[in-house]
Amino acid sequence: MATRKLLLLPGDGIGPEAMAEVKKLIEMMNADFNTGFQTEEGLVGGSAYDAHGQAISDADMEKAMAADAVLFGAVGGPKWDGVPYEVRPEAGLLRLRKDMELFANLRPAICYPALAASSSLKPDVVEGLDILIVRELTGGVYFGEPKEIIDLGNGQKRGIDTQVYDTFEIERISGVAFELARTRSNKVCSMEKHNVMKSGVLWKEVVAQTHKAKYSDVELTHMLADAGGMQLVRWPKQFDVIVTDNLFGDMLSDVAAMLTGSLGMLPSASLGAPDPKTGSRKALYEPVHGSAPDIAGKGIANPIAMIASFAMCLRYSFNMVEEADRLEKAIAGVLDDGLRTKDILSDGGTEVSTSQMGDAVVAKYKVLA
Ligand code: IPM
Ligand code: MG
Repeated sequence: MATRKLLLLPGDGIGPEAMAEVKKLIEMMNADFNTGFQTEEGLVGGSAYDAHGQAISDADMEKAMAADAVLFGAVGGPKWDGVPYEVRPEAGLLRLRKDMELFANLRPAICYPALAASSSLKPDVVEGLDILIVRELTGGVYFGEPKEIIDLGNGQKRGIDTQVYDTFEIERISGVAFELARTRSNKVCSMEKHNVMKSGVLWKEVVAQTHKAKYSDVELTHMLADAGGMQLVRWPKQFDVIVTDNLFGDMLSDVAAMLTGSLGMLPSASLGAPDPKTGSRKALYEPVHGSAPDIAGKGIANPIAMIASFAMCLRYSFNMVEEADRLEKAIAGVLDDGLRTKDILSDGGTEVSTSQMGDAVVAKYKVLA
């Protein structure tokens, strides 16, 4: 039996509750389908800070580097608002992304038919929506130097962040977007702000060159990122794959997430480059939603984004395509059955708890097998 090594980092807030539902799935798949998942657990974010004063320990970083894939819950909460900047909960996630070189962040926004009514947009605008945001994740203003607050000595301070991109970073992320587009509707829209930013000028240029050199079969368009945000809420179905930088991707993916009815629905995959020898790539899977401290511990969080992140893990880290398809069908199935956590509840739905939703997905998966 193959061994598949997973590191679980539940984190803070609703992270552990959502992760508990994925653990049920893993246990069931190991017992009933001999999938051979081996799990280890670690701490990240506020919970890691409470335990050892860091947002993630070196020991847990080592585990992450050694795992076939990392499943990540969520980090942060008001409890840690006052901790030093270097060890704030988010620093754990950023270290994982940077040290594991997870430059490609895939954020699909799919509107399940059962949820079209839960979107803040009209159902016909979002029904059948299936777009993929490919966000650059290890560069740009998130990591550019200098990044500091300096004292100007006259009672004023200056806050500085640096937006910086090199050619190779734009080439490799647009390559990922073009490759993925070929498996979908073959369209890529690149978003930047070349009208105000030098990094945007370079971004647009390199995406166009990469397209011309290797991917001219894919339809490529360019859009300014602000206009892109507007188009996403106006008529999102015009898009197939969107490729954009770290900061714009952060914002645009929250917008896209909300189109689908709830932030509680969206998974993501963060991938490194394939190892030239083994073809395997470092990977971390996390829901797009955050730690939602206001509802943590109440048993009402929606575990679907976390479960769908595990489906992405099956697909991208273990090439378990059949199982990934089945898990995604199981999610759609329980929604069709009318089961709803509070965030997606609408008329006629049956309200269920976090764990009831998880149990229902597990049961549906078995039925579909
Ligand atoms: C995300 C989050 C993170 C980000 C935070 C938690 C650092 O918003 O994954 O979208 O800004 O990238
Ligand atoms: Mg975000």
